Amino acid sequence: MQKLEVFGISKLRGQIKISGSKNASLPILAATLLSSKKIYLKNLPKVKDIETMISLLKSLGSKIKLRKKNLIINNSKQSKNFASYNLVKTMRAGILVLGPLLAKFGNAKVSLPGGCAIGSRPVDIHLKALSKLGVKYKIIQGYVHANAPKGLIGSKIRFSKISVGATENLIIAASFAKGITILKNCAIEPEIKDLVNFLIKSGCKIKWITKRSIKIEGVSQINQITYPIMFDRIEAGTYLIAAAITEGNLKIKNIIPKVIQTEINILRKIGAKVFTKKNEIKIIGNKKIKSINIKTAPYPGFPTDLQAQIMVLLCKANKKSSIKENIFENRFMHVAELNRMGAQISINGNEAIVEGNINFASAELMATDLRASVSLILAALTTKGKSIINRIYHLDRGYENIEKKLKMVGANIRRIN
Ligand code: EPZ
Repeated sequence: MQKLEVFGISKLRGQIKISGSKNASLPILAATLLSSKKIYLKNLPKVKDIETMISLLKSLGSKIKLRKKNLIINNSKQSKNFASYNLVKTMRAGILVLGPLLAKFGNAKVSLPGGCAIGSRPVDIHLKALSKLGVKYKIIQGYVHANAPKGLIGSKIRFSKISVGATENLIIAASFAKGITILKNCAIEPEIKDLVNFLIKSGCKIKWITKRSIKIEGVSQINQITYPIMFDRIEAGTYLIAAAITEGNLKIKNIIPKVIQTEINILRKIGAKVFTKKNEIKIIGNKKIKSINIKTAPYPGFPTDLQAQIMVLLCKANKKSSIKENIFENRFMHVAELNRMGAQISINGNEAIVEGNINFASAELMATDLRASVSLILAALTTKGKSIINRIYHLDRGYENIEKKLKMVGANIRRIN
């Protein structure tokens, strides 16, 4: 089991290049199942979840060549429609192959993702919406057995709740349904816009008609294309917070600042100096960190995937702050570990009250989920002495070369077996 050792008190200085987005790559990889031509994807992040999705696609019969961050996928002879539990259980986004497999074959057997540390991760919204496209399904021994006897038929669908994954599954499925589909109350995360851009570029007929409604006219095939995956906005937000908490001076490159305007505005309110250019952000952390109340929300609100990270920063604020987690039912797993480092965070339902003026103490720690694990690194960077973070396989699911990138800007961090 690998661990990270962090020898604290580093002021991060220099520049970090942001990698491709895990959460844009996953639905786009699933959508390639619709193609019978070669698809060239560029700028994929080298993270575990992408490896898992590639293994899942290979288990379905995709032919895949991966060269560094570029991938060639050929689904012309892809013929299987069974996604097994052992691949889907570690990466809940595996459910995203359900829509394309139904669109392509009219039936599919896909393992339910199962829960994880942050919540039960149900897929009821996906299934209810797919049934509006004519899909019949049964849950048998943890698998979704789904089929569309008459093929997928376009329909008007309104999501009962904003769901990133359900929006992605339905956009992909409806792209091959007969006729017109209108999806309402969609999630509009940038990764979904990237998926839509990929599908339009490959020949699909998709148009946003209002902020959260989209119109899709089914097609029967998608063309061969080359597509560069967008940058990872959560990785970018994580490093901005790292600079703010270490009074650092960082330049973050390969990003489009307006995509994370909410985060930039909040960091400015907290007291960091943030300067933006076309494809980069410069941030200078401030010794004095002002407290602020945060509520996570669907995009363009403050992202749940940065909640653990901003919580660490608010422990250093001049007074108490409140953080409300409105997306997942159990996303405060990092609180117990932060309190072991000297934080004073109390939880009341979906609200965490974060005392300020905390000096973290180094400790041996345990990562519980992807974003919680990175918040422990942020805290460890502000302490004297050595912290050890266990179970960093959580971290490797979504952060490419994190210790190399942090070391490049002055962190004293190393991976040990
Ligand atoms: C995506 O998960 C992201 N994962 C998550 O990032 C992110 O936290 C989440 O969106 C919210 O932004 C990927 O893109 C691979 P949802 P997803 O469907 O699609 C409930 C990370 O750290 N819900 O928008 O699973 C659900 O339980 C990961 O990179 C249902 O009740 O999120 C949650 O409470 C973690 N029924 C809420 O909706 C459903 O059918 C939002 O979930 C689907 C979801």
